[in-house]
Amino acid sequence: MSRIAYVNGAYLPIAYATVHIEDRGNQFSDGAYEGITVYDGKIIDLVPHLARLRRSLSELRISAPMGDAALTQVIKEVVRRNRTNSAMIYMQVSRGAAKRDHAFPENIKPSLIITCRRLDFAAINARVKSGVKASSQPDTRWSRCDIKSISLLPNILAKQAAREKGSFEAILVDSDGLVTEGSSTNVWIVTPEGTLVTRSTDDNILPGITRSAIIRLARDMQMPIEERAFTVKEAKGATEMFLTSSSCCAQPIIAFDDAPIGNGKPGPTVKRLVEQYRIFMDAQ
Ligand code: PDD
Repeated sequence: MSRIAYVNGAYLPIAYATVHIEDRGNQFSDGAYEGITVYDGKIIDLVPHLARLRRSLSELRISAPMGDAALTQVIKEVVRRNRTNSAMIYMQVSRGAAKRDHAFPENIKPSLIITCRRLDFAAINARVKSGVKASSQPDTRWSRCDIKSISLLPNILAKQAAREKGSFEAILVDSDGLVTEGSSTNVWIVTPEGTLVTRSTDDNILPGITRSAIIRLARDMQMPIEERAFTVKEAKGATEMFLTSSSCCAQPIIAFDDAPIGNGKPGPTVKRLVEQYRIFMDAQ
């Protein structure tokens, strides 16, 4: 892969693609981002990703760097220049570069960077087959997790703590003992009665684009769904547990804090959802 990035109007080899040292993304995490999958040459769910970015920017009072049509062209051009058909597009908008001052500088222009990295679908498929382990971590994030902010310190610390325990993902748990979401994923369980449960997006979690697609697919398959919070204890007693995100599709969890989930193997519900999600991606 040739690795070309887009930075504020220019397409450059990644090694030469740089932002200003006083970019507020760099100094304050003052920005928002999106991660979008390219599968078999198709940009998956681009419209909802652009809509979520626009919403994050508007909540942060950052102006959009360009309109959606122009942004779509730039994204497609980055993918084309990277000559890839399986990738993760990373798109970040910061408030821009200015002399360091917490308050918003006047007349600042937002910075836009876009990179595109190969996504290893073989590794994703292997994890779908094998399932992954997860471990609980306290959710120490702020109260606006609905915004896809680039400020991710609590997420990366939780992910690292989980990795050091041999887990693929950290399952974040709030002060009431309720699961919120993963450090970079949404979390789902299947109850012993066969109901699919995931936390409601009214509840200070990221409204995942993959989460919405999975809800639509599950409804089409007449699976019972509840959008509500669940405890760690309920998750440990679930017959299935899984994660969703643009970069991991739907990944079965086979052990949570070393307790096996169901029979300790990926269950039938997540398998059916992954199959349907593949069909959905193929149809884009
Ligand atoms: N993460 N929850 C959090 C905290 C996330 O960071 C993500 C995405 C999700 C899933 O959202 P979506 O289905 O729209 O990808 C849920 C991306 C992939 C990342 O940070 O790289």
